[in-house]
Amino acid sequence: MIYLDNAATTFPKPNEVYKEVLNCMENYAANPGRSSHKLAIKAQSKIMETREAIKELFNIPDPFQITFTSNATESLNIGIKGILKSGDHVISTAIEHNSVLRPLNSLQKKGVQVTLLNVDKSGHISIEDLKRQIRANTKLIIINHASNVIGTVQPISTIGKIAKDTGILFMVDASQSAGTINIDVEESNIDVLAFPGHKGLFGPQGTGGLFIRDGVQVEPFKEGGTGSNSSDMEQPDFMPDKFESGTLNTPGIAGLCEGIKFIKKVGMKEICKHELLLTEYLLIELKKLNYVKIYGPTNLKDRCAVVSINIDGVDSSIVGYKLNEKGIAVRTGYHCAPLIHNIIGTNNKGTVRISPGYFNTFKDIETIVKSIMDIYKQ
Ligand code: ALA
Repeated sequence: MIYLDNAATTFPKPNEVYKEVLNCMENYAANPGRSSHKLAIKAQSKIMETREAIKELFNIPDPFQITFTSNATESLNIGIKGILKSGDHVISTAIEHNSVLRPLNSLQKKGVQVTLLNVDKSGHISIEDLKRQIRANTKLIIINHASNVIGTVQPISTIGKIAKDTGILFMVDASQSAGTINIDVEESNIDVLAFPGHKGLFGPQGTGGLFIRDGVQVEPFKEGGTGSNSSDMEQPDFMPDKFESGTLNTPGIAGLCEGIKFIKKVGMKEICKHELLLTEYLLIELKKLNYVKIYGPTNLKDRCAVVSINIDGVDSSIVGYKLNEKGIAVRTGYHCAPLIHNIIGTNNKGTVRISPGYFNTFKDIETIVKSIMDIYKQ
């Protein structure tokens, strides 16, 4: 199978990831932070090593400001629902994923005021529009760093500066960018960063994380055992225990640690360069086909390796079905981001999404382009 669905989850993972998950399961998957025996200490030190690796990756001031979660959706829910209260105003955008839009929709019913900025056809917000929408009660700006539908990358440092200058909290959804585009929470003034472990960071599914800057007030999403202050019925108020009730996914986090080490070994720039070269090649070849409509940015500026298309006269789900028959994996439909389809004009049909990853080759791109030509001819 030629796997071109890396925006959904990266596959395959580096070999080191598989090996460490198994090594952990077989040799040290005890409960981290709960007991003082050797195996629990080994599990805990692997968790700590992963926290340190994440701290370094995103230039986070303190590893204990990172909470492990099961995916970016959980991270976003903790951040959004833990910060916003009735009467607060939040600014987000029409290019967000449902993991932001649905929590905001539910909070709107509870008295939170929500403004969704429009984006242009290439997926960019207008900075002037953002400034105009700020109100006295604006508490939070949430932005999708890189679109999972059309690959647009937003200028998070510019937005972070506006948030900082106006005293508004800034949350970034790094679902499609963590691991491939450099993110520096200090430089971009990010207060809350939500990221999955299983996409660009090459960890197993069921891993994710959340950075919360010291001093940002976030209510815990769940309460329970943390292995700390066990005689007290109050949930600990310190990080990361405040948000990490229940046994962590130690084997998954151990795999994630290796995924991050792999990024360090290869170099994020190298990974990004390879993915963008594949994307450039794909765009060049697709632009030659006058029956293929490409959505979003058509050049490499401010984009990641996510390309959405349609073939004239062929439903996106049929294209996905036929590509699957030819041994090619893509995602089709609305990609859990409903509002962007109003803007790019795919409301009634969705798109065929091709998302190359680090392990894809130029031959894979040639094969999918040839298959698209064959599907149109048929
Ligand atoms: N959010 C993931 C995607 O875009 C699952 O496919």
